[in-house]
Amino acid sequence: MEKNFKLNNNITIPSIGFGTWQTPLGQTAIDTIKSAVKAGYRHIDAAAIYKNEKSVGTGIKECGLERKDLFITSKVWNTERGYETTLKAFKKTLHDLQLDYLDLYLIHWPANAQQFTNWKAINSETWSAMEKLHKEGKVRSIGVSNFLPHHLEALLETATIKPAVNQIEYHPGFMQNDCVQFCKSHNILIEGWSPLGRGEVLKNEILIEMGRTYNKSVAQLCIRWALQNQVLPLPKSVTPQRITENFEVFDFEITASDMKIINDMDHPKGGAGLNPDTVTF
Ligand code: A2P
Repeated sequence: MEKNFKLNNNITIPSIGFGTWQTPLGQTAIDTIKSAVKAGYRHIDAAAIYKNEKSVGTGIKECGLERKDLFITSKVWNTERGYETTLKAFKKTLHDLQLDYLDLYLIHWPANAQQFTNWKAINSETWSAMEKLHKEGKVRSIGVSNFLPHHLEALLETATIKPAVNQIEYHPGFMQNDCVQFCKSHNILIEGWSPLGRGEVLKNEILIEMGRTYNKSVAQLCIRWALQNQVLPLPKSVTPQRITENFEVFDFEITASDMKIINDMDHPKGGAGLNPDTVTF
């Protein structure tokens, strides 16, 4: 298993990203980023709406690595959709993260038809701003998050640059097969948020039993399973021992028959299960 994936623009992306959603700002976020880098993570997944970008940025600054050795992602929040507002939001994110470029910038959620009759135009305008940021060299790659196939199809009608990534909820029992297949057929890498089903999947008996046969935790099983499905997992933790544990997944392989068992699992309790067509935020 490689420690990197290749994006459709030939840029290399470390195959496990470190999630920062719900990481408390201040010293916790700073220490958490440092622990993650120490454990081996080189890819940090941030977002303006997580409200902790300043602390994440301080953690990055103090982690001891050179900027070029890290892969940093952020996302434009829903209230900032549109051309000028996206450019402005990007400026604030870059300032908060204390960086002079991003490796990846994503549209956090698509404008949906339930909230906006002109949802296609809104997403297209936001995307134009993303393309501008890329052309100016401020962002090495651009992509989307929580886009379903019909959101992507509409975006591709006007896009001049294809999204490199679509970041969606992905964990055992919630594989979003239609979306994953659509993205694979367009060479758009899937990143999986909440790969542990927000912690709930870890209580699943089948996975606990299976983990024992590999001498691995359920968290490690979930992360490795995503990787073997060519999905880039973004586990989040503020606990140093778990941060380390979640990166120790390159020394075992899930067999094809166990992959099938996990792939065929029903939705276990847990996970957000949000539908981008009906969310109201
Ligand atoms: P914490 O941050 O307190 O360590 P997801 O990435 O699916 O959204 O899941 C994140 C949740 O899972 C957080 O509550 C996190 O808790 C918990 N978590 C992360 N890694 C592990 C692990 N290896 N074992 C148990 N719980 C974990």
